[in-house]
Amino acid sequence: MIECDAATVPPDADAAKAQLRSQVLAERVERASAATADRPARAHALAGLVLDLPEVTAARTVGAYLSIGSEPPTTDLVAGLRTRGVRVMVPVVLPDRDLDWAEYDEPALIVAGLHRSVHPSGALLGPAAVSQADVLVVPALAVDRAGHRLGRGGGSYDRALDRARPDTVVVALIFEGELLDLVPTAPHDRPVHVAVTPSGVHRLRTLPGPGGPLDG
Ligand SMILES: Nc1ncnc2c1ncn2[C@@H]1O[C@H](COP(=O)(O)OP(=O)(O)OP(=O)(O)O)[C@@H](O)[C@H]1O
Ligand SMILES: [Mg+2]
Repeated sequence: MIECDAATVPPDADAAKAQLRSQVLAERVERASAATADRPARAHALAGLVLDLPEVTAARTVGAYLSIGSEPPTTDLVAGLRTRGVRVMVPVVLPDRDLDWAEYDEPALIVAGLHRSVHPSGALLGPAAVSQADVLVVPALAVDRAGHRLGRGGGSYDRALDRARPDTVVVALIFEGELLDLVPTAPHDRPVHVAVTPSGVHRLRTLPGPGGPLDG
């Protein structure tokens, strides 16, 4: 079980994040080898829950990601969005780990990108295109009850979220056991509004301003 609370967090946020990252990644590896047969069911459940979110049913453009390795899967999700006619953009990792964006459509020609990523082969939209997303679905290693998010450590999504519109709903995908009481953060870390696991939706934060609250 992953534990991260005030008593066990090292005083330095970077060290605390690094410790939590290796814990979560180790558990993901263990889970992947123990429950390979459950993988399609988990992917299907995650996609269904995200597709049913009211913010997603209302969205015209969704920023998502193409999952690789042990990341929460998105193949069913992006396919479901495209079937519905929703425009889907996915990130293209830049050399400094910042994120550009590309349109995702099916059938897609997916190519290897930088830093062990993949992306569609089409034209780049520019890093500012993230502001076109009504909903952003982001990967996470862990999220806490206040919406603080732990990523892989490049700061990619923190930078991208700085360019998103204030009314964009940010949804993190995680596995069971990765919604924690406390995730260590630094001032540059950008939070998420909703966390989705294969078994449920957790609303963590409301949107600021006249658009919120989300949980009404
Ligand atoms: N807005 C920013 N501008 C420049 N660098 C940044 C920014 N945000 C984060 N970084 C850099 O990224 C590094 C890693 O950030 P952090 O540990 O928050 O990554 P993460 O949120 O876990 O991962 P990711 O968002 O890529 O999934 C930071 O130490 C910082 O140097
Ligand atoms: Mg961060």
